[in-house]
Amino acid sequence: MNIQENYSLKNLNTFGIDVSAASYVEVSSTQELIEVLKLPSANNHMILGGGSNILFTKNFDGLMIKNSIRAIDVVSENDSEVVVKVGAGEVWHDFVLHCIDQGWGGIENMSLIPGVVGAAPIQNIGAYGVEQKDLFVELEALRKSDQEVLTLNAEDCQFGYRDSLFKNEGKGEYVILNVTYRLNKNNTDINTSYGAIKDVLNSKGIEQPSIKDVSDAVIEIRQSKLPDPAKIGNGGSFFKNPVVPTSVVENIKKEYPEIPTYPIDDQQTKVPAGWLIEKAGFKGQRFGEVGVHERQALVLVNYGNGKGQEIFDLSEKILITVNQQFGIKLEREVNII
Ligand code: EPU
Repeated sequence: MNIQENYSLKNLNTFGIDVSAASYVEVSSTQELIEVLKLPSANNHMILGGGSNILFTKNFDGLMIKNSIRAIDVVSENDSEVVVKVGAGEVWHDFVLHCIDQGWGGIENMSLIPGVVGAAPIQNIGAYGVEQKDLFVELEALRKSDQEVLTLNAEDCQFGYRDSLFKNEGKGEYVILNVTYRLNKNNTDINTSYGAIKDVLNSKGIEQPSIKDVSDAVIEIRQSKLPDPAKIGNGGSFFKNPVVPTSVVENIKKEYPEIPTYPIDDQQTKVPAGWLIEKAGFKGQRFGEVGVHERQALVLVNYGNGKGQEIFDLSEKILITVNQQFGIKLEREVNII
């Protein structure tokens, strides 16, 4: 194993925050991971995936372990579906493209989501009407306390909207090693219910889209709205879309009848945090080296030399202002270190 001291994390977090780890090591197998976790320096460690949902506000004074366990293996298949086991260190979008190449569908709406496969179940990633839990079969995880490899199914993982066991009582207890997904082979489950996808397909005159058409449409939408982390540092949506009592929304509607809403049930409604932040006046605002993206107010950005603390402070200001204006308390989606 190659342990490096005082290691820069600037290229390992999509916010591009210039911080360092006291030590750093990359692991590419379960065995290697177990060895590393036995090191005395692992008493204070952190597991890093694609670094796309994390905001570093300071240097990390422990051992940063990058999970680079890779492999894509077909577990079983028949005429209509395929079950695939994917190493946690595979880049999510590369896996999506691999599936589309093979004609495996169900995952195409989640094209171009940054990050690695091992992080997907942690926050139950999702986009354009599909969440990873819809394809999920099981995952293998190393339980740190006894170094046991466990198999967890969907129920064990307690998936919710941008939520799972791994963000709650299982936080810090497991390292995800691989994830198994079920995909379909016959283009049977194409989901174009999300308006923006329909619009792109219509504009191209595509009536019966293939999974590749849907993936291309999603890529086009994401590229048009979301900043490319390679150019402007960001961590995707910074906040979750809040679910609030419908009465709160009814009140807001008196002043803003145009508020977009997604009813959950009789009593609860999800509202887009991006809309609230825009109405609070933050969209496109720049504060020195950090700011709120001009095309999607849910995304906070680092223009180059921003500090994690500056982005955090901006998020705090947004939280307070939105709460004052709408009586809604936003919740951060990004992990703050
Ligand atoms: N909106 C505004 N102003 C903004 C941004 C959005 O008014 O600045 C409005 C839009 O007009 C639309 C609504 O809010 O009516 C929803 O916007 P959008 O379709 O862009 O999606 P979102 O709710 O802002 C969520 C996910 C994204 C995912 C998209 C598409 C969360 C926290 N975010 O964003 O996920 O790509 O839907 O499915 O659920 C991520 O998690 O990092 C992420 C990018």
